[in-house]
Amino acid sequence: MNLIQSSIEIIRAGQAPSGAYVASPTFSQYGYAWLRDGAWVAYGMDCAGLHDSSRAFYVWAGRTLVKHEDRLNALLDKLAQGETPDETDYLPTRFTLDGDLGMDFWWDFQLDGYGTWLWGLAEHVKLTGDTALWDASVPAIRLTVRYLAALWSSPNYDCWEEARDQIHTSTLAAIYGGLIAVRAVDSALVPDGLLEQIRTYTLEHCLAPEGYLQKTHENPAVDASLLWTAVPYGLVDARDPIFARTLAKIERDLLVPGGGVYRYAADTYYGGGEWILLTAWLAWMYVELGRIDEARGLMRWIEAQANEAGELPEQVADHMRDASYYPEWEAKWGSPASPLLWSHAMVLVVHSLLDKHT
Ligand code: BGC
Repeated sequence: MNLIQSSIEIIRAGQAPSGAYVASPTFSQYGYAWLRDGAWVAYGMDCAGLHDSSRAFYVWAGRTLVKHEDRLNALLDKLAQGETPDETDYLPTRFTLDGDLGMDFWWDFQLDGYGTWLWGLAEHVKLTGDTALWDASVPAIRLTVRYLAALWSSPNYDCWEEARDQIHTSTLAAIYGGLIAVRAVDSALVPDGLLEQIRTYTLEHCLAPEGYLQKTHENPAVDASLLWTAVPYGLVDARDPIFARTLAKIERDLLVPGGGVYRYAADTYYGGGEWILLTAWLAWMYVELGRIDEARGLMRWIEAQANEAGELPEQVADHMRDASYYPEWEAKWGSPASPLLWSHAMVLVVHSLLDKHT
């Protein structure tokens, strides 16, 4: 089965009538709609020219965020009074497909998805010229900006839903990328100086002595999500020596020769396999840098990971970082997620770029 076609079908089937995208239709824990995954899936659909699907997601996201505005106001009041919020006071990282709060415990305080959806919405509007959608989304944009402006420098869980006590470089990049995309459409929506503050903080606190961007303000390892600092969020330029050193270290520490890309070297989630979506991200990066053959090589590896139904998993277990962790995750949550909509979305993104190089 053609992977582009199966990817589109899997994403369409995973979009609820509300417009929300489920993270994975089959995996026990992923029956929710994440802002992070959703915005990437929407971007994948935009890259495939399927703007109706993407639009429905942004309508859902805007409506959902506005529905939770009281929660945000209560949180910001607490912060203004110098109180420490409870973990359940933050806006969630995932919602039910109807835009409600989930009932199960989750590692909810994650800021990157709030930047991601802003970035994705701005891209969608740029691609489609749908200024009516932008205008309708302004209340949700405003509340997201207030949330990010108040909390961007607070430690929060990263895009892998881990390390609550850290400030994560790729999270800062997502916040930066979302806010700069909003500013480009309407500068009045972003407080003066905020972007500069975030960028300066990142370059002062998240740079290793060797000159590469590190995983967090304290952890000198690299994480493949650091690719986002350049593409698409542009916190650093793809050709900046800082990014070149970061990329070289990601390739050295996290790329399996002839294979895929790990999240980070100490990953133990399902043993820490190679992630499809990150492998696609590296391919995207390579396209950006004109390394087209290497991009194609990575995409061939991804294609080889699809099953007969054309489904891609979240991660592949062939070269796990530490296989001894696999059984405990399997016992807890079942086999790794497959299909994962975000994996499919990234295939659509890279395919649309490679198409221009044929
Ligand atoms: C990943 C997140 C993702 C979520 C849903 C988690 O395991 O770490 O990045 O948003 O799954 O796909």
